[in-house]
Amino acid sequence: MPLFNYSIVFLQKICDNRGRKNLANQVFSLEQKRSGFSGKLGFVLAAAGSAVGLGNIWRFPYLAAKYGGGIFLLVYILLAITFGFALMVAEIALGRKAQLSAVSAFAKFNRKFSFMGYLASIVPIIILPYYSVIGGWVIKYFVAFCCGNMSAAAQDGYFNSFISSTGEPVLYFAIFLGLTALIVLLGVEKGIEKVSKFMMPVLVILSLGVAVYSVCLPGAMDGVVYYFTPDFSHFSVTTVLAAMGQLFYSMSLAMGIMITYGSYMKKEVNIESSTRQISLFDTGIAFLAGLMIIPAVFSFSGGDQSALGQGPGLMFVTLPKVFETFPGGAVVGALFFLLVLFAALTSSISLMETVVSIFIDKFGWKRNVTCLIVLGGSVVLGLLSTLGYGIWADVKILGMQFLDFFDFISNSVIMPVVALITCIFVGYVIKPQALIDEVETGNVRFKSKKLFVIMIKYIAPIFILLILISSVLSAFGIIKI
Ligand code: PHE
Repeated sequence: MPLFNYSIVFLQKICDNRGRKNLANQVFSLEQKRSGFSGKLGFVLAAAGSAVGLGNIWRFPYLAAKYGGGIFLLVYILLAITFGFALMVAEIALGRKAQLSAVSAFAKFNRKFSFMGYLASIVPIIILPYYSVIGGWVIKYFVAFCCGNMSAAAQDGYFNSFISSTGEPVLYFAIFLGLTALIVLLGVEKGIEKVSKFMMPVLVILSLGVAVYSVCLPGAMDGVVYYFTPDFSHFSVTTVLAAMGQLFYSMSLAMGIMITYGSYMKKEVNIESSTRQISLFDTGIAFLAGLMIIPAVFSFSGGDQSALGQGPGLMFVTLPKVFETFPGGAVVGALFFLLVLFAALTSSISLMETVVSIFIDKFGWKRNVTCLIVLGGSVVLGLLSTLGYGIWADVKILGMQFLDFFDFISNSVIMPVVALITCIFVGYVIKPQALIDEVETGNVRFKSKKLFVIMIKYIAPIFILLILISSVLSAFGIIKI
C-alpha cells in the first residue's frame, strides 16, 4: 500500500477512535492487564461481557418455553455452531482487517456497502431503550427481595400489576438507563468490567445451584423432559426464526458490535478459538437459565402448559416462586437479581457505547453531549415500551405492544437483513478468502475453514432469506406459519 493510503487509513483511525475511546479503553485495558494471558482472555472476556446479559437469562428461557422446549434448544444449538460461529468469525475478522468500527468498516471495503454501517447501527438504537426497561424490572425485583417483599413478589398477580402501573416501572427504567449513561459518561466501564469479571463466575455457580434445585421440585421432571426432548410436532418456521433472532441477540451479532470489538483485537489473538469460547460461554449460560426456569414452570403450574407461553414475564414470575420455597431464599434471590443486574449492565454499556460512538463518528459531536442526547432519545423510546404495558396497552403496532414490536423489528427483521447482507458481502464481494487470510494471520490454522465458506456463501444467506420472507409475510397476516 502506498504511503499516502497508509496516512489516510491512519487519519481514519484517529477519527474513528475518538468515538470509541471508552470501548477501546475497556478492551485495551483488559488486554494489557491480561497480556500475561496473551491478550486473548482479555478479548474473550470483553466480548463475553457484551454477549452475556438479559438475552441469556431473561429472553432465552421464555422463548424456549414458548417454542416447544427441546426442539427450540436443538435448533438453537445447531444454529449456534453453524451460523452463529460463521457470522461471529466474519464480523470479528472484518473489524480486525478494517481496523474500523462497523459504520466505517463496510465503506472501507466497498463504498456501495456503506449503507450497511447505518443499517447495523439502527439495531442498538432500538434495543438499548427496551433493554433498559427490562433492566429496570431486574432492579425492581432486586429491591423487592432486599426489602423483604419476596412473598409478595412470588404472588401470581405481582408481575402484571407492577408492569401495568405507571410510576414504578418508569422509575426503575430511568434508574437502569441512568446508571448505564452515568457509567458511559464517566468512562468507568473498567470498574464495572472488573466487578462483573468476578461476579460472572458467581452467577454461573448460583445458576447451577438453582437449576439443580428447580429440577428437583415436585412435578419438575415433566419440564426437564420438555426442555430436553425435541418434539418435532412443535417444529415450525417460527421456531427457527425465533431461535435465529435469539442467536443474533444473545451473541451481539448483526449490529456491528463484534466488528468494533474485532477492530481492537490484537493480530496475534486467535479469532476462531476466541469465537468458540465466547459462544460456548454464552450458550452455556442461556442453557442453564432455561434449566432454572422451565422445570419450575411445570412444577408451579401443576402441569398447566399455558404458563409456558407467557412471554417476557416468565423469569420474573417463576423465579421468585422458586426462591420462596427454599430456606434463605430471600438472600439468594437478592444476590441472584444483583448478579443478573451486573450482567445486564455490561451489555447495556456496550449497547450505549456503540450508539454514542455511531453519533460521534457521524456528526463529530462531543462525547458528553452525545451521551446526553442518546440518553434523551432512549428515555422517549423506552417510555413507549414501559407505558405500552400500562396506560398505552391499547396501542398496538402489527398487533404487538411497543416492547414486543421493538423486539420483533430488531431481532426478526433488521438483524436477519444485516446478517444476510453481511453474508453476501463476505461471500461475494470481498470473498471469504480475504477473511480467511485475516483469521490465519501469523500462521494460525483456520480449522473450520470449509464450514465457514459454505455457511457464509450458501447455507446462511438462502436460509435467512427464506426465514425472513416468511416472517414478514406472517407479520402482515399474508401467510400463517
Ligand atoms: N447480547 C446481549 C444479551 O444477551 C444483548 C446485547 C445485544 C448487548 C446487543 C449488546 C449488544 O443480553
